[in-house]
Amino acid sequence: MSQPNFDFILFGATGDLAMRKLLPALYQAHAAGLLNPNGRILGVSRSPLDTAQYLAKAEAESRIHIKQNFSEEKWASFTARIRYQPLDVSRPEDFARLADTVNAREGTDCIVIYLSTAPKFFAPACEHLAAVGLNAPNVRIVLEKPLGTDLESSREINADVARHFRENQIYRIDHYLGKESLQNLLPLRFANVFFEPVWNRDYIKSVQITIAETLGVEERGEFYDATGALRDMVQNHIVQMLCFTAMERPKSLSADDIRDEKLKVIAALKPLSAADVARYTVRGQYAASGSLKGYTQEHKVPAGSRTETYAAIRAEIDTPRWAGVPFYLRTGKRLSRRTAEIVLDFKRQPENAALFGCGANRIVITLQPDETVRLKGFVKQAGSGMSAISAEMLLDLEHAADARRAEAYEILLREVIDGRLALFNRRDELEQAWQWVMPILDAWAADPAAPHPYPAGSNGPEAAEKLLAENGDAWAENDAGSLKTPCR
Ligand code: BG6
Repeated sequence: MSQPNFDFILFGATGDLAMRKLLPALYQAHAAGLLNPNGRILGVSRSPLDTAQYLAKAEAESRIHIKQNFSEEKWASFTARIRYQPLDVSRPEDFARLADTVNAREGTDCIVIYLSTAPKFFAPACEHLAAVGLNAPNVRIVLEKPLGTDLESSREINADVARHFRENQIYRIDHYLGKESLQNLLPLRFANVFFEPVWNRDYIKSVQITIAETLGVEERGEFYDATGALRDMVQNHIVQMLCFTAMERPKSLSADDIRDEKLKVIAALKPLSAADVARYTVRGQYAASGSLKGYTQEHKVPAGSRTETYAAIRAEIDTPRWAGVPFYLRTGKRLSRRTAEIVLDFKRQPENAALFGCGANRIVITLQPDETVRLKGFVKQAGSGMSAISAEMLLDLEHAADARRAEAYEILLREVIDGRLALFNRRDELEQAWQWVMPILDAWAADPAAPHPYPAGSNGPEAAEKLLAENGDAWAENDAGSLKTPCR
């Protein structure tokens, strides 16, 4: 397939995301020979720099984030693609100059405009881009999260952008969709015969979806305090993991067929009443422990803040496949381990238990730190007699194929340049996800109680254990026993 000749216009080019993630991702695609050799990168931001000064900044701040495949020669050929131009989002004349730069060359197949800026700049940027013709059909606009802070602000942002760009030009980023191990759920479920027949309420007792981080809020105290775990992680990343786990087979792999199925999952999430929020959700906040600071001692976090750094929710999906199956969702900062995983716990089968007294099967899909699928089951214990012990089948995705495994941002940027929308959120999906989290946000905001404290570096608040215990379940890390216990 020939690679499109692109202009990649990066708004917020001096920002943290550009330096840490976006330029390194573009470098990797370049180093792997996956970008059209004539494709250009045009950085824009308010900083009054020239190209040489911008490149010096990239040299100092971005290059260090390139962890593999680095060579001086490739870095030099990569940076030769980059130009920089100062631009103030409030000045129409700056957009006219931008259009001049873009229009000055011929043969551009597509123009990617990446808005790595605060969302308040999206509306003026889109308006001025449209005024200079930078919303033509070959223009794609990429929106970085957060896309709003609630349903209303998200609707506003979407409406502002939609005034100037058609939906099929809009690429809403959720970097979890760039993770290979998340995408892998589609072939895992729909290209194999082993899973689909049991992937439902008849066989599955509960599902757990976890994103746990060991990091605290680091330098992002100000942003994080206005955001919290529910907005930062649940409304987007956790919901996407849920969609890939729970969706029905899409009619095809086209962007809209996949997104239609995801939308149906989000729309089928049972709305939580205020009483449900009290019963089925837990919010926590990390407290100082050992050498680790508590959340309220972090830089730019006000003392007495009630922002949650941990959220756990018992959700339910009201579809014939899933009715009655609890989906336990959780995420938190400053926890004991870093992981993103999906655990499906199967019901015990009486006829198996009658012979072997075995525990239940489990599938663990790990997105990070490793990328694996583990099927936990039982095998014969060696020796005389016939008893079973627990064992595991491991599918190691990192070693399953020879191909280089790219980071999420590289994958997503290549998808944009190639014009494939499947790994980006459609407007209706995003708004539906906000709709589902709103009652939780509202009830938490109205609740005068502080979030449950948990020691930094622990497994989260105890209240989150009770959320599962009520239903006879336990978080996966506390529940390995039944699988390890030898069967009779
Ligand atoms: C971001 C959140 O979207 O995802 C961060 O804003 C979080 O708070 C990050 O740390 C986690 O991403 P990953 O890929 O490291 O799990």
